[in-house]
Amino acid sequence: MRHLLAANWKMHLYPGQARDLLYKLVKHWETYQWDTHQTIIFPPYIYLREAVELVRNSPLSIGAQNGYPGEFGAFTGEISMAQIAACGVRWVLVGHSERRQYFGEVSALLQEKLLDAQRRNLSVVYCIGETLPQRQRGETFAILRQQLVEVLSSGVDWTNLAIAYEPVWAIGTGVNATPAQAQEAHSFIRSVVAELGAPADSIPILYGGSLKPENAREIFQQPDVDGGLVGGASLDAASFIAIASALWG
Ligand code: PGA
Repeated sequence: MRHLLAANWKMHLYPGQARDLLYKLVKHWETYQWDTHQTIIFPPYIYLREAVELVRNSPLSIGAQNGYPGEFGAFTGEISMAQIAACGVRWVLVGHSERRQYFGEVSALLQEKLLDAQRRNLSVVYCIGETLPQRQRGETFAILRQQLVEVLSSGVDWTNLAIAYEPVWAIGTGVNATPAQAQEAHSFIRSVVAELGAPADSIPILYGGSLKPENAREIFQQPDVDGGLVGGASLDAASFIAIASALWG
């Protein structure tokens, strides 16, 4: 099943707001099927355990926005993939452009994170995307290829992986990729993962970057767009539900 929807709450919401939002989503997702309406919520770390409890018996699953490779160690401020998995979390984001941009995460570390997460039974949403200058210089495909090859070239469990195409210029800017731009990038990504040995037709490739109820349907209609990773519009139950309806009708 390729369709997948994800909410990236980033560093937003106070505890009561997070709980309230999740209650509303759990309620709405009661009407959805487990196998066909897979949805992942990525809350801030400190809400993870409560979130895992709240979504029990719901088609929603919980993911961590980041994780450090390994089990235990003297890494002040970090939380390990093993600890995340032990808390009942099912997914982790790797390679989000904000981690690459503001926290200096490079391919070697991202590969370590991805492989360690999978070793500990966490599924991964691996995020890639070009910046505006890269697109303007005509480097989009080269950058996407590099981000895929450097991190996914060996040891990947393709059955526990989704890819998110998130053009950096579209994240949080209100300027989304056009449906044609998204389709072009997604079909390129699918061809590269096929070269890397993936069963490319079964890998969910999500679009992210200023997804909203107003633009979601047209983007989701593209044949290689299998769902979305939603930031800002996932902080409001009604708009996230509207985006879910755009995906599943
Ligand atoms: P946005 O963020 O929907 O607010 O643009 C998407 C993301 O960064 O995952």
